[in-house]
Amino acid sequence: MTTQELKKLDRQHLIYSWKAQGAVDPIIMDRADGIYMWDTDGKQYIDGCAGLLCVNIGHGNKHVQNAMKAQMGKACYVGTMFGSEPKARLGEMISEVTPGDLDYVFFTNAGAEAVENAIKAARWFTGRHKIYARWRGYHGATAGAITLTGDPRRWPAEPGIPGVVHYFGPYPYNCPFGTDDPEECGKRTLEVLKTQIMLDGPKTIAAIFMEPIVGTNGIIIPPKNYVQGVRQLCDENGILLVSDEVMAGWGRTGRWFGIDNFDVVPDIITTAKGLTSGYVQLGAMIWNKKLWDYFSEHPFTGGLTYGGHALGCATGIANIEVYKKENLIRKSADNGEYLKKKLEGLKENHPSLGDARCQGLWACLELTSDKKTKAPLAGYTDSIRNVSGELTKRFFQNGLYLFAKWDFIFISPPLIITKEQIDSMVEIIDKALEYTDSLVT
Ligand SMILES: Cc1ncc(COP(=O)(O)O)c(C=O)c1O
Repeated sequence: MTTQELKKLDRQHLIYSWKAQGAVDPIIMDRADGIYMWDTDGKQYIDGCAGLLCVNIGHGNKHVQNAMKAQMGKACYVGTMFGSEPKARLGEMISEVTPGDLDYVFFTNAGAEAVENAIKAARWFTGRHKIYARWRGYHGATAGAITLTGDPRRWPAEPGIPGVVHYFGPYPYNCPFGTDDPEECGKRTLEVLKTQIMLDGPKTIAAIFMEPIVGTNGIIIPPKNYVQGVRQLCDENGILLVSDEVMAGWGRTGRWFGIDNFDVVPDIITTAKGLTSGYVQLGAMIWNKKLWDYFSEHPFTGGLTYGGHALGCATGIANIEVYKKENLIRKSADNGEYLKKKLEGLKENHPSLGDARCQGLWACLELTSDKKTKAPLAGYTDSIRNVSGELTKRFFQNGLYLFAKWDFIFISPPLIITKEQIDSMVEIIDKALEYTDSLVT
């Protein structure tokens, strides 16, 4: 079929996520290998956001493909009431890389479903109903997960599920509590959270959810004192700490899990994406011993048909083997430092670039119309102007796919990317920023 024929079929039948359908005009992707993708006209793109930040090991990995084929030859699926070798082995492999005593794994289809199960587990375990989630956080598009989400994606889903309360997390670049010092921002934000919890009733709160580093709201890296303070606050009040590692997990930040950067052990981890690098869908909710002991005596009333999918679990095993064999967690940390320096260089040269944040191979450029006041260029929900559409067009024209929205440009390539490939990517970004510079000078 020609590209035009495919596009016509696509627009006749397919519903795309998050968009008014009339505005959809997709590039039709054909194949992918390593860090590259090719569309149906043969144009090559660097996959600068690893799909939707999931293809951590890169496209077309033969080790994973062969493991998938081997599992398909045995059984793609067995019912959730049965054990299976892939499920048992992947459970062990996950427990070997998770922090502390987070050794107990419940498999889901994806990230939002892991979050839904964590909400239920936290409520049943504590007997409390409130769930705390931060403003500028994203947790998924299902009923509970979207209610936890602290950005405009939640608005159309309101009123959402009952009992969800939002709190402010630190935003060191533009701290709402009046300081430019990241540590001080962490301290002040923690004091505000403590006060909120005191007034709201600590014994009514089941769990505090956090992305250890905020993902789709701008790669917001909290200071260590804040994350450790939240852990202490949870301990003092019998509240569970849930680390949402759907995006932050699996080497993205240069550590196995995002929370490892803060020397904190949560009670529950939710994860997906890099668990299989998107070769097939799989997510997980992971408990510590305390939850495991409780649910050894009480039923965990949850689960869907495809939980612990044999093909998904076999894919997960081979995927973790690739992380280890190719030393990808270390590579993410090392090449992340390289990327960080390059992006900081861009910040100096572009008047429209307010901040460059990077941890591992997970980065965000935040645009501004005024470096001194940090005034936005596009504004929240593009309330001033839509620059991300124009930027995305320029990236595509030059053979780069990046996810951009509002004042944010996200850079999160597969962890196999080389320094030379990072150079090519940054060169294209550098050029595209001439457009945003032209809006402020
Ligand atoms: C932090 C976080 N939690 C949950 C989700 C939802 O995951 P999924 O889209 O796999 O349901 C996402 C997706 O981007 C995410 O970034």
